[in-house]
This record gives sequence, C-alpha cells and structure tokens, in this order.
Amino acid sequence: MRLAERQQELDAGLLNFRDLWHPQPFREIRPAWCEQWPALTDELLALPEALVAGLNDDLPAALNLLAKHVPGVAAIAALSELPAMPQQALAERAKHWAWEIPGRKREQIEAFAAATVNCGQPVLDWCGGKGHLGRLLALTWQTPVHTLEIDAGLCDSGSFLAHRAGVMQEFVAADAMETATWPQSGQHAVALHACGELHRRLIQQGAAKSVDCFDVAPCCYYRGVAERYQPLSGGLQLSLSRDDTRLAVTETVTASPRETRKRDRAMAWKLGFDAWRRQVSGDAYRTFKPVPDIWMRAEFAEFLVKMAEREGLALPSAGVADEFEAQGWQRRHDLMRLSIVRHAFRRAIEVWLALDLAEYLEQRGYAVALGSFCERKLTPRNLLISARRV
Ligand SMILES: C[S@@+](CC[C@H](N)C(=O)[O-])C[C@H]1O[C@@H](n2cnc3c(N)ncnc32)[C@H](O)[C@@H]1O
Repeated sequence: MRLAERQQELDAGLLNFRDLWHPQPFREIRPAWCEQWPALTDELLALPEALVAGLNDDLPAALNLLAKHVPGVAAIAALSELPAMPQQALAERAKHWAWEIPGRKREQIEAFAAATVNCGQPVLDWCGGKGHLGRLLALTWQTPVHTLEIDAGLCDSGSFLAHRAGVMQEFVAADAMETATWPQSGQHAVALHACGELHRRLIQQGAAKSVDCFDVAPCCYYRGVAERYQPLSGGLQLSLSRDDTRLAVTETVTASPRETRKRDRAMAWKLGFDAWRRQVSGDAYRTFKPVPDIWMRAEFAEFLVKMAEREGLALPSAGVADEFEAQGWQRRHDLMRLSIVRHAFRRAIEVWLALDLAEYLEQRGYAVALGSFCERKLTPRNLLISARRV
C-alpha cells in the first residue's frame, strides 16, 4: 500500500475511533464508550490481574480484544503494521569502537546503521549526542561526518572518541532549532531519536535546502507541541492534542514485582486522593504536582492530609481515609482495565505521526520508505523514515 493511501485510511480510521482512544480514564472515570460498548466494558472489568499488564503492552492482542466487540477496529491493526527495513551487514570494525556505549544503545545504533543505505554523501548526524552513530557510519562508509549537538560537553567527549577511532568526524556545538547553517544540500542527514521539534526541524529545513537523503528515527513526538499538533503534510482530518501525541510514546515499563507493588500503591493512593477531592470540591479531575516518594511510605490517612494541605483544601474529616483508600484501589483496578482500550491505539497514532513526516517529504519530491529498523524490544521507537530526493 502506498504511504499516501495508508495515511488517508489511518487518518479516517483514527478519527472514526477517536471516542475510544482520546478519553483518559484517570480523568473520565467511565469514558462515554463504556455505555456504547457495554459487553466490551464488562469483559475488560472482569479481566484477571495476570492478563492486564500484558494487554496494556501487547497492542495487537489488545486490538484483537476490541475487534471482537467494535466492528472495523481490525483495519487499524493492519494499517499500523509496517514492514521491517532490509538490513545490510555492517563492514568489519575494531571491537572497541563501542566500548563506551551501553549494550542496548549500541544495538540500536548498529540496527539503525544496518538499515540505512549509503548515499555516497557526507553525513550530518543531527542531535547526535556523543556522535556514536556518526562514528559508526564514518567507520563503515569511510565518509566524513558532522555531528550537530547542543551540549558542548557531549561534543568534547565525542571528539575524543572520534580522534581515537581515527575517523573523519567533526562536532558542531549548536542549537538545532536556531542554526541556519545546517543541514546543507549534498549531505545525507541522519537522526536517531532526535525528539519532536528537533526531527521536525531537520525534515523541514532539510527539504527546504534540498538535502538529498534522510534517515530519521523519530521519538518524543510531543516535544515542541503547544496545544495541538500542527501536521506538516496537508489534507488530514484528525487533529491531535499534545496529550494525544504523548499517547504515541507511552510505554508500559517492565518492573520488578516490588516496583510493581510500589507503583500500584502510588496509583491507588493518588486516585483515592482524587476521589476525595472530587467529593469535596466538585467532580472534575485536576492535575497535581508530582508526589514526594516519602509520602507514600506512611499510612494513607497521613498521605491524604499532606495532599489536602499542599493543594490548599480543608483537611479531611477523621475516619474518611479508609473509604477513600478503598475507592482508590477500586479505581486503580478499573483504570488499568479501561486503559487497555486507549493503549491499543498507541502504535496507530505513532504511525500516523510518522506518516505525516514521510508524506511531507513525498509531497516535496522524495521517494520515501517507512518501516521498522529493529525489534520493538530493542527500542519501541523503532520507526525509520528513509527518503531519497528523486
Ligand atoms: C535522545 S538523544 C539522542 C542522541 C543520539 N542521536 C543517540 O541516539 O545516541 C537527543 C540529543 O539531542 C540533543 N539536543 C537536544 N536539544 C537540542 C538542540 N536544540 N540542538 C541540538 N541538539 C539538541 C541532546 O543533547 C541529546 O544529545
């Protein structure tokens, strides 16, 4: 399927199911879809704890569950599935090229490099940190590399590593959002996990300067989004809020049983406080500042008093703590289950965002491929936009 067609279908599909993925069950205790899909709601609320974490993380399984109840959802799963980019073997290199890089990061960099086809042009490594990717490309392609990075300390460390590896890699300490000098035409622009506005800037500036080749793995799409995401390509019906763009990168972090218990308790207590606050000051969710860890170590009653004081509310009357702690645990139970619906659309939203970047380039005369450069377990931000000016 052509990218433009996939974009249009996904745009329409996500718009169609907006009522399922847009509401946040920690704000809306029972999102409106619960009434529209009572059998789905019942099935979710009855799920045993052992299945819940898995379904919040395994998006195809979650979409399958939804598809049993909601006609048309299966199409979203198909539209969110992208091919794996072909990988080429990387040229032999000295083993110590990556001594400083943590194992998983090194594997991501190697996978990105293996999925990237050499254009025969000097490389610009955009927001490159210590320039590990740039160094690997300089080594394997024997090509000059510029690594642009805002943090001068990272540039210094990177220069040292480049010198030691004997590669042609120069560091430019500059703000990617400000510089007018980079990227330059005649460069192959690569960006591994340049956040939100940084990857968007590269793509827009690069296309304006007729950069021939792009290989971009985006991340943190919400960075630089004020209220609403401004699509780069035209003709889209869906409009995403900043929170929607965050949903694209919300992962369920695998935690030890001890950490899971701590996280569950923190969630239940915050929801318990929210339930109490809704009762005393009106029924709407309000955000609050992060809660100090130490407050979670006492009893719920003490926690409730501290939160009430901090939020400028009258103190809770004696004896209400047990009731609201129980409500908090019940809400955690429901929230974990109802969130499966919202989370099921995460990848689809990420693909929609990546397609927006890909289509922007296609509309400006590039041949664009979009796929994954590594398995999700290596990094969930595994999409690669590969564009060549025709
Ligand atoms: C997630 S890291 C990715 C680093 C590298 N590409 C990698 O994959 O190892 C994002 C990098 O962008 C840099 N950065 C953030 N804002 C920047 C800006 N305005 N201009 C240039 N670099 C920036 C950060 O310092 C950081 O090194």
